[in-house]
Amino acid sequence: MSTSAELVGGRYGRTFQGDTPEELPAAVSQLLERRCIRRYTAEPISDSMMDVLLACAQSAPTKSNLQQYSIIVTTDEDLRMKLADLNPDTGHMKYCPVFITFCADMRRAKRLTERNGFDYASNNMDTFLNATVDAALAMQCFISAAESMGLGCAPISQVRNRMEEFCAALGIPEGVFPIAGLTLGWPDWEGRMNARLPQSAVVHREKYDDSGIDDVVDGYDAQRLETNPISADGQRHTDKYGVSENCTWSENVARQLSVTERAGFRDFLVKNGFDLA
Ligand SMILES: Cc1cc2nc3c(=O)[nH]c(=O)nc-3n(C[C@H](O)[C@H](O)[C@H](O)COP(=O)(O)O)c2cc1C
Repeated sequence: MSTSAELVGGRYGRTFQGDTPEELPAAVSQLLERRCIRRYTAEPISDSMMDVLLACAQSAPTKSNLQQYSIIVTTDEDLRMKLADLNPDTGHMKYCPVFITFCADMRRAKRLTERNGFDYASNNMDTFLNATVDAALAMQCFISAAESMGLGCAPISQVRNRMEEFCAALGIPEGVFPIAGLTLGWPDWEGRMNARLPQSAVVHREKYDDSGIDDVVDGYDAQRLETNPISADGQRHTDKYGVSENCTWSENVARQLSVTERAGFRDFLVKNGFDLA
């Protein structure tokens, strides 16, 4: 069994120098060891288990308890294949027994505002953000609960690649949009730990200070190059930039972010009822 220092170090792929408590609760150890799982057995997930997991998703904090999100659970084989066909690069969508879509949802609260005889005056950027954060937190609570029950999952932002068709397939109405999908199933693979940036890159003590960031990222790049090199398949936009012999994490980030993804997203949201003012 790993010590708490090994578990914390494992998250960063290196020995952890700081103090750690002698023992960690199981939920914390599990969080430190979590990773996406993209291969599943054909075993179904019971309805009773799904009900518990969905209650865990709904246990997430939510802005003013407005609960501006919806969760669509898809198990029907034909419908799952239809969604998978819209995302051919995401092979595991075909093999997960359950596919879940987490949506930001302004529709329900707007409707009940009007049903109570009030004018709805909250169709703006703040509501867009609150609904998105609500949906994301619900998804993470679902993920943590599912992983603690031995299930595996992986979020899928690629569902936003063909938004119109995806929303049409799931009957997603105006005022609602998917923030991400989630493949879910019993793991057929143990997955792989994806070491994170050191705390010094991400955590700022007292005030924001990123003056040392270049050195920290260089160290992370070197560590990942040694332990988890990026294969030609994993390198972004090789059609444009070719294959690097030693593609670092930060080079791959730069490759990815040098090409605009989903440029039509804002237009889709506006067309789908979000003012974004
Ligand atoms: C909002 C969101 C969207 C994601 N979309 C995808 C996706 O479309 N395809 C995919 O394979 N993984 C997707 N992921 C999973 C990330 O690639 C993964 O979390 C990241 O590489 C870190 O790996 P780990 O979760 O195993 O530690 C997504 C994760 C998040 C949070």
